Amino acid sequence: MHKVALIPGDGIGPEITAAAIEVIQAAGVEIEWVKLESGECTRRKLGTPLPDETLQAYLACGVGFKGPSAASMEDAMITPARRQGVDTGKPLRSYNSVSNALRREGGGYVAVRLARSFKGVPAPIQGIDVVIVREISEDIYIASEYTVGDDTAVALKIISRAASEKAVRFAFDFAQDHHRKKVTVVHKANVLKQTDGLFVRVAREVAKAYPRIEFEERFIDAACALVVARPELFDVAVMSNQYGDIMSDLCSSAAGSLGLGAGATYGTQASIFEPVHGTAPDIAGKGIANPVSQILSGVLMLRHLKEVKAADAIEQAVAAALENPENHTPDLGGNASTRALTQAIVDRILR
Ligand code: IPM
Ligand code: MN
Repeated sequence: MHKVALIPGDGIGPEITAAAIEVIQAAGVEIEWVKLESGECTRRKLGTPLPDETLQAYLACGVGFKGPSAASMEDAMITPARRQGVDTGKPLRSYNSVSNALRREGGGYVAVRLARSFKGVPAPIQGIDVVIVREISEDIYIASEYTVGDDTAVALKIISRAASEKAVRFAFDFAQDHHRKKVTVVHKANVLKQTDGLFVRVAREVAKAYPRIEFEERFIDAACALVVARPELFDVAVMSNQYGDIMSDLCSSAAGSLGLGAGATYGTQASIFEPVHGTAPDIAGKGIANPVSQILSGVLMLRHLKEVKAADAIEQAVAAALENPENHTPDLGGNASTRALTQAIVDRILR
């Protein structure tokens, strides 16, 4: 029996995590879900969206299953409570969102985001099957910003050899393990010669150790255009944090809906499995959210837990259910409810 920290999150999070749990159960995997509080409700109740108990319990489980959580422009910095007033001998660490706090405190070093086209799903672009490997610990997302005078603001972009190498190695290992043929490094080293330049140089060095996997370099702007025009050119794509954030939304939307974008953040202490998208407050509580992003994030989690048979079974059930337009939720142009699509997936799980 596995033990997993369950963090339903905000907006549509509780609905889609409930759907995903139902599907995982139907696939016969036994999990003890440790339900933890976080998000806007928790903030209103306890004054913080990420209480100490939640963080500790997540780290103790080592595996988290999380819905999307709110991160507004007005958010104050979130400081993990366990460090408040505790002399750890290290500087106090604070984060700009619950997601980042959980990822970083778990030693997160890489996020994997899957974007693929499904047969029967109407989409702006057909034939997408891209694995985005996003460095998750640094880049401009360390959010080290300051203001100079009244009208100027500065943000630091940090790129280190160690973090870049870890992400690129992960991308090549992933390609090797999943029988993928190519790794593309996405960057903007024509402008950012030091930071992105370092990322690309590291990628070139790492690529040499994987002679059987094709290696390609593309600029981020051109990559965005090309993935839409010729998606078949992309297989596994590795990039620094911000480019990965943007490209993962682009790719899952191009494949039909943000509601299809599954994700995982792997860490040295804990790994967390969560959709690529946000909380969709406009449809929260209406029972019409697409649960597929959460279900496929669950598939990534099951692979991490070595529940390969169940992961395969769920993956094929999702594809089979999506073939029928009657099972499409409104984001896919249909009328199906979360419940109906979930049931259609459960019904197609072969055990
Ligand atoms: C994502 C989100 C987060 C990120 C936000 C909520 C901090 O956009 O998971 O892609 O930027 O990583
Ligand atoms: Mn994002």
